[in-house]
Formats: sequence, C-alpha cells, structure tokens
Amino acid sequence: MNHIPVLLAEVILNLNPKPNQNFVDCTLGGGGHAEAILEKTSPQGKLLGIDWNKASLRIAQKRLASFKNRSIFVCDNFVNLTKIVRENNFVPISGILLDLGLSSYLLEAAKLGFSFRINEYLDMRYGQPTAVMGQLTAADIVNTYLEKELIKIFKKYGEERYAKAIVREIVQVRKKEKIDTTFKLVNVISKAVPEFYKRRRIHPATKVFQALRVAVNDELENLRQVLPQAQEMLEPKGRLIVISYQSLEDRIVKNFFKEKSKEDTIKIITKKPIIPHYKEIVRNPRSRSAKMRVAERT
Ligand SMILES: C[S@@+](CC[C@H](N)C(=O)[O-])C[C@H]1O[C@@H](n2cnc3c(N)ncnc32)[C@H](O)[C@@H]1O
Repeated sequence: MNHIPVLLAEVILNLNPKPNQNFVDCTLGGGGHAEAILEKTSPQGKLLGIDWNKASLRIAQKRLASFKNRSIFVCDNFVNLTKIVRENNFVPISGILLDLGLSSYLLEAAKLGFSFRINEYLDMRYGQPTAVMGQLTAADIVNTYLEKELIKIFKKYGEERYAKAIVREIVQVRKKEKIDTTFKLVNVISKAVPEFYKRRRIHPATKVFQALRVAVNDELENLRQVLPQAQEMLEPKGRLIVISYQSLEDRIVKNFFKEKSKEDTIKIITKKPIIPHYKEIVRNPRSRSAKMRVAERT
C-alpha cells in the first residue's frame, strides 16, 4: 500500500532543491516527493504540503515527522493555492509540484470506491469525510444524471468508446436497483461491452471509473485554475512541475505552458514530456501513464 513516488529522480533533478529553499507540494499523498525535497533543503528550507484527503495528509504527516519544524500541512483543494500560501505567509517559493490523481492509499485502502477491484460504496470524493456540502458522489451521478449527460462524461473525461452502450445498460439497471457500489457498476459495464473488450490488458471499467472520478472532483477545472496561481506564486527562476496520468490533463498543462511562454512569463524546460524509464514501470506499474512537464518562472 505504500505509495511509490513516480519519477522521483526526475522531479528532484528538475526542482533542484537547495539548502534553505521553500517548496510547495500541492498533492502531498504519501509524502514521497516531499520527503526527498525536505532532505535536500535542510537546515532551514520549508515545505508547504497540501492534500484534499485528510487521511492521506495524516499518513504524510507521520512520514515527515522528523521534519516537523520545517513542514506545514494543509487539508484543502489545491484550487485554493493562493489563499493557502497567503494565509501561511509562505514566501519566497522556489518550486511547486503537482502529482495528480490517485495514490496507492486512495486506491487500495481509503474505502472511497476508487478501485474497480474492491467492492465499496461508489463515493470517489477526495475530500471525504469533510467533503464540501452538496458535492455529488459517483453513485449520485450514475443514478441520477440524464442519459445524455452520462454519455458526455464517459466520452469526454474517459474517452470511453462504448460510452453509449454502457449508459444504455446503466439506465436499464437503475430502473430496478440503485447502482451504488463499485462491483454493481463493474457488472453493468461487463454486460454492456463486447467480449474482446474484456480480454484486453486494461480492465473494461478503467475508463468509466476515471471519468467518474474526474467528474465528481471537477479535476480538469481544478487543474486549469491552479496553474496560473502556481505560476504567480513562484519566485523568478522558480520551477513548476506537473505529473499527469491522462491525456486530458497533460493537454491542459501543455497548452498553459505554451500560452505563458508566448507571453514570456515562463520558460518551458521540457519541450516533450518526461516519461518513466521502462525499469520504473516494471518496478511500479502505476507510473506507466505518467507524463511530467516542467516550466521555469521568468
Ligand atoms: C498521486 S498522489 C501524490 C503522491 C505523492 N506525490 C507521493 O509521492 O506520495 C495525488 C494526491 O493528490 C491529492 N489530490 C488530488 N486532487 C487534489 C486537489 N484538487 N487538491 C488537493 N489534493 C488533491 C489526492 O488526495 C492524492 O493524495
């Protein structure tokens, strides 16, 4: 269950943390990247670690206990980055890291229904148990959204080719019973897709689960909103690193970097994204779709 940080050597090489510098980790998770940063910034460098998921934050806090005097932990959505930085008077900032998506903890132990391999309530809110009032769960979306809205979500956020067939099955099944667990949803998907689709290396529910997670947490919008804030917060020559795990996120990062480099407010360091070496993928299969982009504040 221990989360293995993805592209760790590459993150450290590109952030290049030096003694007494300050960094922000917007997605603290298991605290793997944060630990490596804190080791390099001793004796006085500080780390501001943010995670929306309270239990993840606690795990990271434990791991980073020996750096207690140099780390600040905030449980919040990184979309509030400017506010969080101001409230903690956290300046100057030499680098900001975003390592998007799920950690091993969220997938395997958080009991939030992120995994199609474990039978749990279909929740998927990172912010649980302190989620924003009124934020819909994945079960709410699956059971109440109109057919055409569901198709849009599965197509847009999951690029699922059998979106229509899956949603047709969902609409039939939910007339009889609520689809409120991961396994109920997996069964519905299984019934809707062709046989060959179930025999591929990727589980047939992968894309629908991804799409629901993105929709429940408004992940693409969070990313769109945090990027300009991160760029603003950095000191000159400070670096922004984003590791994404799906093409929609990577496209947002790529376009943001392009646009800002045209305005001369950032310099793109990675013309092409950095991807894990095959040895890392063998050791940590979760890293296989990772793409890392780096930009420097001018
Ligand atoms: C891939 S994990 C990070 C792993 C971490 N870099 C490590 O080395 O252990 C992503 C983390 O980001 C958090 N997260 C996702 N979206 C978030 C958001 N909008 N605001 C704050 N945290 C978020 C998740 O709860 C998860 O713990």
